[in-house]
Amino acid sequence: MHYSARLTLHPAFTVGEVNPRLFGSFVEHLGRCVYTGLYEPGHPAADEKGLRTDVLDLVRELGPTAIRYPGGNFVSGFRWEDSVGPVEDRPRRLDLAWKSTESNRFGLAEFIDFVRKAGPEAEPMMAVNLGTRGVTEAIELQEYANHPAGTELSERRRAHGDKDPYGIRLWCLGNEMDGPWQTGHKTAEEYGRLAAETARAMRQIDPDVELVACGSSGSGMETFAEWEATVLAATYDLVDYVSLHAYYWEKDGDRDSFLASAVDMESFIEKVVATCDHVGAKLKSEKKIDLSFDEWNVWYMDKPNPHEVAEWEEAPRLLEDVYSVTDAVVFGSLLIALLRHADRVKVACLAQLVNVIAPIMTEPGGPAWRQTTFFPFAQAAKYGRGTVLDVRVDSPAFETKKYGTTDVLHATAVANGEDGSVTLFAVNRHRTEPLPLEVVLADFDGLELAEHLVLADGDQDARNTLEDQERVRPHEGAGTSLEGAALTAVLEPCSWNMIRLV
Ligand code: AHR
Repeated sequence: MHYSARLTLHPAFTVGEVNPRLFGSFVEHLGRCVYTGLYEPGHPAADEKGLRTDVLDLVRELGPTAIRYPGGNFVSGFRWEDSVGPVEDRPRRLDLAWKSTESNRFGLAEFIDFVRKAGPEAEPMMAVNLGTRGVTEAIELQEYANHPAGTELSERRRAHGDKDPYGIRLWCLGNEMDGPWQTGHKTAEEYGRLAAETARAMRQIDPDVELVACGSSGSGMETFAEWEATVLAATYDLVDYVSLHAYYWEKDGDRDSFLASAVDMESFIEKVVATCDHVGAKLKSEKKIDLSFDEWNVWYMDKPNPHEVAEWEEAPRLLEDVYSVTDAVVFGSLLIALLRHADRVKVACLAQLVNVIAPIMTEPGGPAWRQTTFFPFAQAAKYGRGTVLDVRVDSPAFETKKYGTTDVLHATAVANGEDGSVTLFAVNRHRTEPLPLEVVLADFDGLELAEHLVLADGDQDARNTLEDQERVRPHEGAGTSLEGAALTAVLEPCSWNMIRLV
């Protein structure tokens, strides 16, 4: 057989609209995400509030929308009152999740200030602590943050300097409560009950808040699916989303399986959709629960930390993965998986934003730079807007140990109804073979090729580092052409591609 792939697109065959929140991210009080990451008073680029403007510039270029905060595992021990008011009065606390010391110099007001500067579409996605705390603290935080004035808590916010409410719409009801590592870990029944009570109370303050119930912290959890079914049975009418978390990394040198990681992500999404709809059917409800994939990334979680870290250190170097070209290609494929399920995945958060398994790295007192994963995210967040097309993929296959026979081509396309453009996102998962691609653009008239950007490299392990911050950059694809309704391109081995037609 001739080795090539074909994609067929038609404007009538669609998956659904992309919710801008699909391009969310995550800021946790973990390692150096906040301190010496996005916040570093005294840094030459810090603004009057201590935010690093060099990081803010990169964040705006990256384009995250919903920004989840303050955890993560951290939130399950978080006392929100510690994080507001005069900085000099804020207590230092043990952070049990990451065995660090939390100074609380950066807190809720500073986070809201950061979000307001993080770009026109950035919005806060706030998690409440359902580990060591409960309903009372959640509604008190909501009142402090969102109530305009005239109550003790809203007046406290105003006295702290923020006259206007923060208007936080999107809330997570805890974090990974199914995980035994979670402070205050619960059974599905215990969590379902607490999440329902918290959701009911939060809706008494504001019926329009959008609430995310914790799903499983991974599809490999023993309680997976049963957890979702039990939690949703208790919360179905009270919440809008259930969360999913997934991290991928190359295990035992099995790069082919790693390159096919999105197979697992897509199957995870489909199983959670099926579980949600099963619960809905049992409850005879017409309501659909959507998915909040609020932690996803490549993360080498089993690699020893190359940095020496003392117990209870403040802002230690934790989870500072340095991403290769291959990691970025897998990362891009995960983005494609999310887009391909845009009908039900309405929120997704790249975990995390700065320094901690992040697209942006910083040095204290030094520069900020883009990791390889920065590029697929920035491109998709900018151009993956509109309607996802239900593309027909005809691809050669390759064998993987974990996922069996897998398509070499992983792709999606988004049609933008506003400007008439069509953007293709495609990954060639093959490590050594270039992939000739033909795209049939049935019934799309008058399109012209605007650009073909590629992330690939002769050295698939190449990375951007402090010493060589620009080592990996996207380049233009060679030989791509559009004639009539037929686009042809050759996708480099192990590559992420964005092809824009306008
Ligand atoms: O993103 C890092 C950690 O991964 C988060 O704190 C936790 O929710 C997940 O296990």
